[in-house]
Amino acid sequence: MEFSIKQGSPEKQRSGCVVVGIFEGGKLSDAAQALDKLSKHALSDLIACGDLRGKAAATLLLHNVPNTLCKRVLLVGLGKREEFGARQYRDCARAAMRALQATGAKDALLYLAELPVAGRDSAASTSSGQAWCISQAVLAAYETSYRFDRLKSKPEKEKVTLSKIQFGLITAKPNAALEAALTQAVAIARGMVLAKDLGNLPGNVCTPSYLAQQAIALAKKHKSLKATVLEEKDMKKLGMGSLLSVTRGSAEPAKLITLEYRGGELKQKPIALVGKGITFDSGGISLKPGAEMDEMKYDMCGAASVLGTLQAAAEMGLKLNVVGIIPSCDNMPSGTATKPGDIVTSMSGQTIEILNTDAEGRLILCDALTYAARFEPDTVVDIATLTGACVIALGHVASGLFSNQDKLAQELLAAGEQTQDRAWHMPLWEEYQPQLDSNFADMQNIGGRAGGSITAACFLSRFTKKYRWAHLDIAGTAWKSGKEKGATGRPVPLLTQYLINRANSK
Ligand code: BES
Ligand code: MN
Ligand code: ZN
Repeated sequence: MEFSIKQGSPEKQRSGCVVVGIFEGGKLSDAAQALDKLSKHALSDLIACGDLRGKAAATLLLHNVPNTLCKRVLLVGLGKREEFGARQYRDCARAAMRALQATGAKDALLYLAELPVAGRDSAASTSSGQAWCISQAVLAAYETSYRFDRLKSKPEKEKVTLSKIQFGLITAKPNAALEAALTQAVAIARGMVLAKDLGNLPGNVCTPSYLAQQAIALAKKHKSLKATVLEEKDMKKLGMGSLLSVTRGSAEPAKLITLEYRGGELKQKPIALVGKGITFDSGGISLKPGAEMDEMKYDMCGAASVLGTLQAAAEMGLKLNVVGIIPSCDNMPSGTATKPGDIVTSMSGQTIEILNTDAEGRLILCDALTYAARFEPDTVVDIATLTGACVIALGHVASGLFSNQDKLAQELLAAGEQTQDRAWHMPLWEEYQPQLDSNFADMQNIGGRAGGSITAACFLSRFTKKYRWAHLDIAGTAWKSGKEKGATGRPVPLLTQYLINRANSK
């Protein structure tokens, strides 16, 4: 898909489809007003006869609108003007994109960038508001056109013909800030596609070796990226007894993948992103129940989001250094698998009593987090589908955010707010730590049912004392279940926006 920004009122434009918004009660947006005037009130007439009510996310496709140079006009309901905020804008942009893709139009001109979105620096009049509208529309375009049909013998749905999208501006002029927002949004969207594809691939395809190959392929494509893959024997030398205990039951070899992006100065300390890469989580000897176990192929979505974010950083040429670290293996039961009660020694030297082999994410992450210190990171963020308890706490709307520094937490929350890929700040208080006390080792790997996502974060915090660190529990947000089953590409938008903000603040 190709995107561009163009100035000019709708009446003079030629395109396969022009898209304008209508508020509830028949209030026309500026672009709709221009079209209405041009067409001798074709839109007002539709409103008068009750066919066009402006209900949120409703669409109406018109042909042969008098005097326009566009083959089609797509009207999008925006809902009540006084309720028009970020969420409403996003829903309407998605509805518009879906309706557009159902037409035969090859190109479209969207007048959505200057809509008055509440709380977004008044999008109507400020460049940052318009930039926000444009990026959300780009994300909506990618999201609604995403298909994962490469494993079907023949594709089910027709391919989308829409290939060119222009954002029309009536009053504002295209400028560097808007162009930058467009480039960034495309990079984020493409990063999400990569993350979704990897997430959706089944466990028999997307193995640790496959993830390693993906990292190597990315490094081949971008000069600014360098991939390194450590094998089990290397991890053994490093003393990663905790990580290796998880892979013991699997026939697939574990990998520790690092992908380094160099966009900043040589001496600049990198931001490390550590992603959980369990390519299938059966639970191990503490076997999970059968229902929906297939969804545990998504247990590498943290890793996928790291790869997606690094691809985005490389495509944008961000002036920043970033290192992605991905511990990856399967969690399987077998005669060689780790047993409940086993005690292992982590790379940090701390010993861990494994009381439940299904709490494996923290076991691979703790060694990867210890390893991360070798890069002398400025900041470390880990991303993991870590706990079912986080899904109970926050549902499928917000990712859980934990940090040992409040300022970092605020920066990540803000990046999530900006991109509508939101997180919620959870406590990491001392009072929860005793739940991890063990009679036989330095700690145990589970903390009981109470506050399950918090004690998981507490476990990780014992390995991250040397640097500024945050943990994102994406168990509820990385994929959707049921009829719409599929990876979401989250939290690529949050992570990438955080990196953009960091690069801008330098
Ligand atoms: N990958 C799971 C977490 C998970 C479960 C994510 C369901 C999304 C949906 C993780 O490895 C796990 O099994 N966690 C256990 C921890 C428990 C044994 C302390 C859980 O949440 O049940
Ligand atoms: Mn598990
Ligand atoms: Zn898991």
